[in-house]
Amino acid sequence: MSVFVKKSISQLLASSEEKSLKRTLGAGSLVALGIGAIIGAGLFVRTADAAGSHAGSAVTISFIIAAIGCAFAGLCYAEFASIIPIAGSAYTYAYATMGEIIAWIIGWALVLEYALGAATVSISWSEYANKLLGGRIPYEWCHSPMQSEIMNGVHHYGIINVPALVILLLLSALLIKGTQESATVNAIIVTLKVAIVLVFIAIGWSFIKAANHTPYMIPANAAPATLPDGSQYSYADFFNHGWGGVLRGAGIVFFAFIGFDAVSTAAQEAKNPKKDMPIGILGSLAICTILYILFSWVLTGVAPYQDFMHAGKEASVAYAISTYMTGYGWLATLVTIAILLGFSSVILVMLLGQSRVFYTMSTDGLLPKVFSNLHPKFKTPYKSNMILFVFVGLFAAFLPESVAGDLTSVGTLFAFVVVCIGVMVLRKKDPNLVRPFRTPLVPLVPILGIIICTLMIISLPGRTQLSALAWMAVGLIIYFTYSRKKSKLGSAADALPRASDFEKQP
Ligand code: ALA
Repeated sequence: MSVFVKKSISQLLASSEEKSLKRTLGAGSLVALGIGAIIGAGLFVRTADAAGSHAGSAVTISFIIAAIGCAFAGLCYAEFASIIPIAGSAYTYAYATMGEIIAWIIGWALVLEYALGAATVSISWSEYANKLLGGRIPYEWCHSPMQSEIMNGVHHYGIINVPALVILLLLSALLIKGTQESATVNAIIVTLKVAIVLVFIAIGWSFIKAANHTPYMIPANAAPATLPDGSQYSYADFFNHGWGGVLRGAGIVFFAFIGFDAVSTAAQEAKNPKKDMPIGILGSLAICTILYILFSWVLTGVAPYQDFMHAGKEASVAYAISTYMTGYGWLATLVTIAILLGFSSVILVMLLGQSRVFYTMSTDGLLPKVFSNLHPKFKTPYKSNMILFVFVGLFAAFLPESVAGDLTSVGTLFAFVVVCIGVMVLRKKDPNLVRPFRTPLVPLVPILGIIICTLMIISLPGRTQLSALAWMAVGLIIYFTYSRKKSKLGSAADALPRASDFEKQP
C-alpha cells in the first residue's frame, strides 16, 4: 500500500459519531481549557531565559513574534478542528489530508511536543519545588548531569533530577487511575494561574526601573555575563543580541504558547464545535498573548536581564519578587505554590495528550498494541502511561530545562508547519467540503504561518535542530521497518480512533 494512503474524512466522522462524548463544553470552558494547558513553564521560566541570554527587555517583542506565528497556525488548526472535530489533533488532520507517512511524521513530532514538553515542565516544577523547600534538596539530586554551578567556591555537578521524576510518577499514576481533571478543578487552577500573573503585573508595575528597559534590545557590545559554572557568556553572536536575539527569544518563548492546540482535542466534547472551537483556540491564544507581553515587560523592568544569567533563571518570578520587590516576600511563597499547581496541570495535559496520540496511532496499527491496551477497570491506556513515564522520566532526569524545552518547541513548530500546509492541500483537494470555520486569506495566512514558524525553528540552536532531525530519522526507520507493514488502514473503520474509549466509566 502507498505510504500516502489517506483516511477519508467521512469515515473519520462516522466513527467519532458512533460513541459520542457528552457535549458539555461551551466557548468559555474551551477558552479556560486552553489557558489551563498554555500558561506554565514557558512564561514562568523561559521568559527569563530568553531575556537573559538573547533578547533582553525586548523579549516582549519575542512574545509578539511567537504569538503571530501561533495565531496563523491557530487559524489553520481552527479550520481543521471545525471540519474534523475529533481527537488526535494534527496527527488525525494529516492522516486525512496528506497521507499515512506524513501523519506518522507528525505523530512522531508530537512526541517531542507532548512527551518532551511534560519533561520540560517537570524540570521547572523541580526548580520551583526546591525554591519552596528553601533550597534543601542538594544540587546534585535536582539537576541534570549536563549542569554545574559554583556555590561558595565549591563546584557542584548535577547527577539526576529526582523531584522531576517524583512529580511525573505521581501524575502518571493519576492518569492510570483515570482521575480526570474535573471542570471545577481546571477552573480553579486556571483562575489561580491568571490571578498570579495579574497580581505580579499589578504589584510589579510600581517596581519597574526605567534603567532596566534601556537599551531595550541587548547591544552587540554588551559586557559578557558570568554563568553559574564560572564561565563567561558572550553577547556578540548574531542570535545573542539585537534583532537576532529577539528572534531566538521568540523560538524560546514559543514554548509558552504550546497547548492551545490541545483545545482541538476536546472537539468531541464541545457543544457547538463549529463555532466554539475557533473561539476556544483563538480566544485562549489572545488572552495569553496580552498577559505574556505585560508580564515580560514587568519582569524585565523589575530585574535587570543580566541577573537571569547567574541567578533565578529557572524560578525567575520568585527570584524577582524576593530580590527586588521589598515587602512582598510572602507573595513569593504564594506565587511559588500556585505555579507548582499550574505546572502540574500542564504536565497532566501533556501526558494525557501523548497517551492519546499514541493510542490513536496504535489503533491505526502504526504502533504496537501495548499503547492501546486499556486497563480492565480504569479503562485507561495504563501500559502506555507506564512506558511513557519511563521514557519521559529519562529526559526529565538527565536533561537541562533549556535543552528539553528547545526540542519541544522544534517538534511543535514542525507540527504547526504541517497543519498550515494541510489547510492548503485540503482546499485544493476537496474545495467543496463544508467548512464551518474557514481560515481567512488562504493561502496568505498559512504561508505566513509556515514562514514565521520556520524562522523560529532556524533561530533555535543548531544542536537542537540536529537532535530533532535524528529523532525524525529514528521515526522513519521505525515507520519503514514496522508501522508500514502493520498499518490497518483500509481494513475497517474499527481501526479509527475513539477518544470516547477513555471516558465515562460507569
Ligand atoms: N505552554 C506550556 C508551558 O508554558 C507548555 O508550560
